[in-house]
Amino acid sequence: MGSSIQLVFGAVPCHYTTTKSYFTRSSSYFSVKNYVKGKWDKDILCEQLKGPVDFQGCLRVQGRGAISRLYSVGKLNRRLETLSCKCQRTESVSQAIVEVGSGKSMNGMSEPSSLQSLEGPKLLNNEKTVITSDDEIAAASEMSDTLQGFGINSIEDEAWNLLRASIVYYCGNPIGTIAANDPSAANILNYDQIFIRDFIPSGMAFLLKGEYDIVRNFILHTLQLQSWEKTMDCHSPGQGLMPASFKVRTVPLDGDDSATEEVLDPDFGEAAIGRVAPVDSGLWWIILLRAYGKFSGDLSVQERVDVQTGIKMILKLCLADGFDMFPTLLVTDGSCMIDRRMGIHGHPLEIQALFYSALLCAREMLVPEEASADLIRALNNRLVALSFHIREYYWIDMRKLNEIYRYTTEEYSYDAVNKFNIYPDQIPPWLVEWMPTTGGYFIGNLQPAHMDFRFFSLGNLWSIISSLATTDQSHAILDLIEAKWEDIVANMPLKICYPALEGEEWQIITGYDPKNTPWSYHNAGAWPTLLWQLTVACIKMNRPEIAENAIKVAERRIARDKWPEYYDTKGARFIGKQARLFQTWSIAGYLVAKLLISNPKAAKKLINVEDSELVNALSNALSANPKKRPRRKLKQSYII
Ligand code: GLC
Repeated sequence: MGSSIQLVFGAVPCHYTTTKSYFTRSSSYFSVKNYVKGKWDKDILCEQLKGPVDFQGCLRVQGRGAISRLYSVGKLNRRLETLSCKCQRTESVSQAIVEVGSGKSMNGMSEPSSLQSLEGPKLLNNEKTVITSDDEIAAASEMSDTLQGFGINSIEDEAWNLLRASIVYYCGNPIGTIAANDPSAANILNYDQIFIRDFIPSGMAFLLKGEYDIVRNFILHTLQLQSWEKTMDCHSPGQGLMPASFKVRTVPLDGDDSATEEVLDPDFGEAAIGRVAPVDSGLWWIILLRAYGKFSGDLSVQERVDVQTGIKMILKLCLADGFDMFPTLLVTDGSCMIDRRMGIHGHPLEIQALFYSALLCAREMLVPEEASADLIRALNNRLVALSFHIREYYWIDMRKLNEIYRYTTEEYSYDAVNKFNIYPDQIPPWLVEWMPTTGGYFIGNLQPAHMDFRFFSLGNLWSIISSLATTDQSHAILDLIEAKWEDIVANMPLKICYPALEGEEWQIITGYDPKNTPWSYHNAGAWPTLLWQLTVACIKMNRPEIAENAIKVAERRIARDKWPEYYDTKGARFIGKQARLFQTWSIAGYLVAKLLISNPKAAKKLINVEDSELVNALSNALSANPKKRPRRKLKQSYII
């Protein structure tokens, strides 16, 4: 585990600026880690700590190991001691904060009374994990029957109760939702953590309900965790990386046996199974930040210097030059929702759709300033190239399939038709039968001499939502979902991908993964959380009835089955082999879908509309070359 020290200032802005603008965090949240990672001179840091710190509220201090190598810890601690808010046992956290601070809780928020008032499976205060006592287990597992028995009649009511019960508090304030609250699970693994990607539907549900504080807190606290020094075998992930998940831990306060403090402990993949890098976390964070502004009307969060810096750090990481030939983001296997080996290394669609969406959202939120001009130029260039690349090379329908079937190979030229040298024999037999006459989709991945023809739901849906797909392509994707309802929706929306890897392919691609056996989990299992993305996409294309039908399918059993994480079998008839019950994003995904169907206008706040400037830039580039090859000078020619 890495070592770090972190300071978190309360909501009242602490006027704490530094001289180096890139790492300046002039408002409430300030992470010393950034100084360490940014190779800041220790004297600058110590000087800053002595400087005019003007704050109120709760200051949290977490110091571990290596800081002593970098700074004179004695000196630093003495300095910090006077500032420290020693959170007592967590049950009295709120009180402690109020006492130490100015009468307000951390972040200036009111205490979470309304959120706590509804009882569901309870979180223990101490570790913020799942319930453990027998009584609580019994109570929780019978909850769904009981709620209905007491006349809390709608599945939605139950879902809200469960969602609220999954809330995790930090220093008395709600900051996220636990991944699963399954009282029957023997091994909790990391399901007791707050996952960035899992919180997105929770956050959306709270935004739709007008409960903004939890989302604001989540955004600001996860920002602090960005580029926290975490290492795997001496290697640190790139600055700007957001963790996959984090946990609120209660630990003894240094030097004081009678007191404890709460600390946030992030996992950037260095503890995750397979050590996968959570590339999607930062992209989701940007998307949620924009949604927060749209729903709450509070643009002050995205305008904060530290938040602007956070956005730029994510963008810099994504836009950094590498060896890659394509505008798509190059990632390792399992870097997104599918966080295990599943043959999605390279340029998987899900990452590209989120990347495109995050670029658009970031562009909307970045405060125009001279210093960001290059970044915004790079961002615009990437948007144009990315949309061209995906629309052109990932798209597949009957016409395109037939074209691939007749491809000439081994073309060495600038104007090759078969640019990636795809051998027609790669077309899998299932696809020849499966491709409907109307409809089409984006393939899962494209690499030199390799097309992954599997249909991945999230990537396709988010391509619609973000307008990465053209209008025609968006309709065609929905046509395909309708035409292939029995494969993609069946008894529970929505298959994560189709079809499953079987036999030798499963052995080689998953590495004999017993969790990802055919038609289970990531290998074509059905994930109810995807319902919300389906709903946004359908509403955007003015075809809400597709989502309504899917919701009806889910309602037949999702609550009765206790909100499983995923379903197995080709027809999604069984609760997944190792599926958690009371999986929060299954609950939240359902709620968001319901809320949007009853208020479709709200979906507008979640989509990216097609950018006419981009379309023009692209068509200019293409019209300059009848063979549809973007001009080589595209980079220079697109002016913002
Ligand atoms: C599984 C999923 C991942 C999710 C996590 C927590 O690992 O693959 O997408 O974030 O569980 O629910």
